[in-house]
Amino acid sequence: MKALVTAARGSHLKPLTHTINKHLIPLANKPMIFYALEHIASAGIQDIGVVINENDTEIPQAVGNGSRWNAKIAYIKQTGGTFGLGHVIKVAREFLGDGKFLLYLGDNIIHDDLTVLIHDFEQSASNCLLTLAKVRNPERFGVPEFKDGNIIRVEERPIQPKSEYAVAGLYFYDQTAHIAAEHIKPSFRGDYEISDIHTYLAQNGYRVGWQEINSWWKDRGDARDLLEGNKFILSRLASKKQEAYIEPTVKIEGAIEIKQGTKIGGKTLIRGPVSIGEYCLIKDSYIGPFTSLGNKVELHGANIEHSLVFDDTSIVTPTKIIDSVIGAGTTISARHLEMPEGNKIIVGENSSLAI
Ligand code: G1P
Repeated sequence: MKALVTAARGSHLKPLTHTINKHLIPLANKPMIFYALEHIASAGIQDIGVVINENDTEIPQAVGNGSRWNAKIAYIKQTGGTFGLGHVIKVAREFLGDGKFLLYLGDNIIHDDLTVLIHDFEQSASNCLLTLAKVRNPERFGVPEFKDGNIIRVEERPIQPKSEYAVAGLYFYDQTAHIAAEHIKPSFRGDYEISDIHTYLAQNGYRVGWQEINSWWKDRGDARDLLEGNKFILSRLASKKQEAYIEPTVKIEGAIEIKQGTKIGGKTLIRGPVSIGEYCLIKDSYIGPFTSLGNKVELHGANIEHSLVFDDTSIVTPTKIIDSVIGAGTTISARHLEMPEGNKIIVGENSSLAI
């Protein structure tokens, strides 16, 4: 079985995505798309096609040829623009050939057992297997409609959802997906909707199976959703320390991951799960649960919890920082250090602050 992974740029998660493809945003110090690739490779699939924008060099550079996962990655360009997930299947026609394949959206993180799902699909008589998850806001997703336990239609972002399920970003197909992809028409937003492929299959005599998954994260479009994604990953963190220098005065509780070259000293308390990147300098600070610090982050006298901090950021203020997403290269200092005293802010577009 081959795998197809999506990695084209989108407009979600501003302001972070002004400067970085969403799929490369690190969660717990790993680019988001690495979780999908790792998951696929660990299930024994080695032939992976990654679908990128026509002129993209960022993804191939960061992801490489797949050797780090013992896999072979081919890049498939979505020429002429991005026209939805149905279009992704169309442009990958040659790469996929006539075999069975899975489609994994590179911005979804799934912890369910992929080997079992692949096995279930291989053993079933279904032409397509959808993974479903119960959600509070199905209107944001593709939503299945059932009759006698069978999927008879999938509606993309329905105003009145016909079930409480969302179709998650992991799908299994045989070659009939290509027949469906040839038949569907672009939607009102100009996209070949993946949901229309599923409806076509269900309504033209093909079997659309489904399986509920229980461990799934996907953003809803807001940068703050990354905090949930970060928490989702950190909650399974196993402690791992590379060559970091930690002074004996430092207290560490719970699971923490520290990468090489990082120095932690003074009266610091780290309460995991926490992930800390390379070459960070941390002194006299409190780092609370569900925090990830990127590479070369400096914390001096800081107090931070349930936050995501990207590379090259410096935080030198005792003011408690919680539930925050802090972009790369940011400086946060204490308000009383310079006169006149007050909150002094330079933020990019589409930001949000609570001060
Ligand atoms: C896409 C699909 C949607 C599906 C979702 C899962 O939407 O169009 O049917 O439920 O992925 O992640 P997106 O979130 O890319 O807008």
